[in-house]
This record gives sequence, structure tokens and C-alpha cells, in this order.
Amino acid sequence: MSAAPGRPQASSHRSAQHEGTPVSHTPYQVIYDTDPGVDDAMALYFALAHPAINVLGIGTTFGNVTVEQAATNAVYLSALAGRNIPVTKGAARPLRRPKPVPPAHIHGTDGLGNLPTRLPVEGRFDRRSSAQFMVDMARARPGEITLVAVGPLGNLSLALRLEPRLPRLLREVVLMGGTLLEPGNVSPVAEANIWNDPHAAQHVFQAGWNKLTMVGLDVTHRVILPLSLFKKIADQQRHVATDTLHHAVSFYAKHYSGRHPHVARVHGCFGHDVLAFLYLVNPELFTLERGRVRVATSGPALGQTLMSRKEPAHHPKASGHLDPSFTQVCMQVDAEACSTVIENTMLGRWLG
Ligand code: BDR
Ligand code: CA
Repeated sequence: MSAAPGRPQASSHRSAQHEGTPVSHTPYQVIYDTDPGVDDAMALYFALAHPAINVLGIGTTFGNVTVEQAATNAVYLSALAGRNIPVTKGAARPLRRPKPVPPAHIHGTDGLGNLPTRLPVEGRFDRRSSAQFMVDMARARPGEITLVAVGPLGNLSLALRLEPRLPRLLREVVLMGGTLLEPGNVSPVAEANIWNDPHAAQHVFQAGWNKLTMVGLDVTHRVILPLSLFKKIADQQRHVATDTLHHAVSFYAKHYSGRHPHVARVHGCFGHDVLAFLYLVNPELFTLERGRVRVATSGPALGQTLMSRKEPAHHPKASGHLDPSFTQVCMQVDAEACSTVIENTMLGRWLG
């Protein structure tokens, strides 16, 4: 799979490390929208460690924890890693559904596997809402910014309301959420981020982006990361940030290993959110299908993502309701290569 036209030519970080090809000096300028969350923390540290990714700001949302806790965690994780990244607070609840209970059994009550202590840190909160921050940044740098969204999609939906030109102002959107063929993880058919705010997700999928990529359970359930990888990173980096991540992943891996025998075999966890960044920098590790994605917003299929692979002409009854927006959906992944990229990236020099 070749890089999209206009994509910064930095997608070969793995090959750069292994085969000596140069790493581009054009980093991806990213706003990270997140509900940290253990895999969100893993994804953030992968992004901070990757030389081709520049995290301009972090938006937060309810999901794995409340939005207050998500913002606190985003500030904490950034500060531990020695980064002064602006963090905004965003959606506290779904657009139209009751507020869900955070899954403390998966991420801990604090979202980071119940850390026994926290160091005092100086945070950098930005008082704007996450949606306003996104819009301001996109207007200031039209066509430059990639949004990587790995929580429920309320912030992006609100940003679309504030700035209807957002789909043209952002370079691209990569989201972790949804599933097409793989069973759901909160219902037989729904993935958690979409289920948490199906109306917001429906709005986002219909918005007509320059480029929208869905990284869902079809691929994230294929990438199982052993806890030993995070121990190795913590042992070699010897830093409070990697210790914190190792602690959080220990909690998270216990949950997943308790539920899935094939995950228990390596005592590990699904990579979920980190796959969104992996797609960004190494798209050649994924195979894609394109179509119109829509979300079930009521009934037993609530939160299901459905993709029409055909042109509207083939669906005359539905064509009146379709707009020309396409999503590319990751359907297969080279799981081993993903683990290698994560390992090589996070073992590099990225902590002071
Ligand atoms: C998604 O849901 C959250 O629990 C994870 O952080 C990830 O974004 C996986 O379904
Ligand atoms: Ca998440």
C-alpha cells in the first residue's frame, strides 16, 4: 500500500531503524483526542516517542473515566514525560444518551490501573473547550493538522458544529473505534468508543472529511501486546513515565488475560488506541476497505458500525439518505510488525 498523496513521507520509521533509510524531518502535526485510559496512555507515549509525530495539543473526553479524570491523566502523563503540551477538557457525556458508567474494571478507577501514588506535576491546562481548541488550531494551520481520536467522538462532533469547514481544514482524521466483521466489545456488535456516543459518531462519519480512517476492532483485536514488552521498556528506559505505563498495563493485561485465553497465553492486552498512531506512521502494515460507514443510534444494534461498500446507485432505496463521504476502514494488520514498531520506537531516546 503506497502512502497517500500529500502524506508526510515519514511512514517508514520501522524501516528507518532497521534498514538505514532516512527518517523524514516533516513530522505529523497531531491533535490527540483521548479518554486516558491505559491504551490511551500507551498511545500517547508511543506518539511522544515517535520522531515523526508532533503532538500539538490533547483534547479529553469522558469514556474510560470521567472527563475531569481524563484531563488530569493527560496532564499527568505529559508532565511525567517532560512535555509541556496544552490539555483541554471536552465532552462530559454523550450528546443524546445517558452518561455511561466508566469501566473501572478495565482501566482502574483512576484510568491508569489505580496508581498507588502520583508525583506532584505542573500541568498545562488550556481553558478552551477541546472542540474550540481543535477549531482554532485547524483555522490557524489549514490543511496541516491530523486529528487522532481514540475515545467517544463528542469533541469532534461539537467542533463540526462550531466550524462546518472543519473537514476541509484538517488534513485527515484517524479514529480508533467501531468494528465491521469482528464481534463488538460492549455488545455483540458494538465497539466501546462508538457505543459511548453513537450520535456523535454518526455525525462524524457523515461529515465528508478530506480523509477519514477507522481503526477498529477488526485490527485492534489482532494486535496483542505482552506485558513483558512494557517491562522491557521500563527496565531499559528507567524513567517514572515508563514505570507508570508499566503499572497501568499490568492492571489492564490482567483484565484482558482473564477474559481471553489467547491473550492470557502471552499475559498481555489488546493495543487498541496505539494502532491509530501505527496506522498514521506505518499505513503499509494495514489493508483497507472503503465505503460509507453509518452508526446504529437505537435498538439492539446500538453503536454498531455498518459499511456500505457499493455506490448509492446500487441501493436505490437508501440513496436519498447518503452523502458522498467515504471512510477507509482497516481490515487486516501485520500484527508482528506493529509490535516491532512499538518496541523500537519506545526503546528509542525520547525521555529526558
Ligand atoms: C476503546 O475503548 C476504550 O476502552 C479504549 O481506550 C479504546 O479506545 C476500545 O474499544
Ligand atoms: Ca480510548
